[in-house]
Amino acid sequence: MPLVNTTEMFKKAYTGGYAIGAFNVNNMEIIQGIVEAAKIEKAPIILQVSAGARKYANPKYLKKLVEAAVEDSGLPIALHLDHGDSFELCKSAIDDGFSSVMIDASHHSFEENIKITSEVVKYAHERGITVEAELGRLAGIEDDVNVSEADAVYTDPGQVEEFVKRTGVDSLAIAIGTSHGAFKFKGEAKLRFDILEDISKRVPNFPIVLHGASSVLPEYVKIIQENGGNMAGAKGIPEDMLRTAAKSAVCKINIDSDLRMAFTAAIRQHFNANPSHFDPRQYLAPARSLITECVRHKLVDVLGCNGKA
Ligand code: G3H
Ligand code: 13P
Ligand code: ZN
Repeated sequence: MPLVNTTEMFKKAYTGGYAIGAFNVNNMEIIQGIVEAAKIEKAPIILQVSAGARKYANPKYLKKLVEAAVEDSGLPIALHLDHGDSFELCKSAIDDGFSSVMIDASHHSFEENIKITSEVVKYAHERGITVEAELGRLAGIEDDVNVSEADAVYTDPGQVEEFVKRTGVDSLAIAIGTSHGAFKFKGEAKLRFDILEDISKRVPNFPIVLHGASSVLPEYVKIIQENGGNMAGAKGIPEDMLRTAAKSAVCKINIDSDLRMAFTAAIRQHFNANPSHFDPRQYLAPARSLITECVRHKLVDVLGCNGKA
């Protein structure tokens, strides 16, 4: 099976009451760790690459690694551009062979967001590629830009129908209180399920996306803290909230920080226990295994997409 776009995945997820996990990838071990989990759990997955990841790893290398994952697993896998900030970047990902792209023009005016998103949709749809856009503004860190909680803007449900109709976009990321990074809240987590419900009534059967959906698992914070790291104050989205979201119109849930933390926790623990080790395979293998464990947990207990491949 070749790379797939997100159309079928989202259709089944919407009607099946589960969500597809969209996991950020930067290197071979992260890709292998995620795909191993998807193989074990027979889950469709989205592997997503940010602009920063493209710069770090070179999209050509990531594309080949993901192709290897498709060949090795036989699973439905989409290769998605995460947070494309311009038509040019989305075009370049499509030309590189990505099967899905996100155009994130949410920092522009409503009209400008519609204009840029529509351009991407036209180019993408002519080539069978699906497009995600964003309305509203999440808090947190994204490509080194830190948006404070005060500057975050919830999605206005009143704009959604017009945006979807005029752009022809395939899915929409909304802001309901999730946030990028590992330090999401100072106080208690709060998701505006009322906004989500309002939106899903206005655009029935339309796939919604949640960014900034890591839970910042306390066991990883603990391992990192106990092995020389400092992540004091790290806090994520409670998993029961994400499980509720996954049963609704939310068809794609983005997870990056939890993977970073699993990888880092395993490496820190390994070095603490084995100060003489210097062969990268010795510490990357447990890091890859903890990614697999983390993703299996997400697929089964949070997303509910196990057995859906
Ligand atoms: O939403 C942002 C993702 O976590 C990607 O992060 O831009 O540092 O690769 P990055
Ligand atoms: P987290 O930082 O919560 O993992 O969010 C990742 C994300 O939204 C990638 O686009
Ligand atoms: Zn994001």
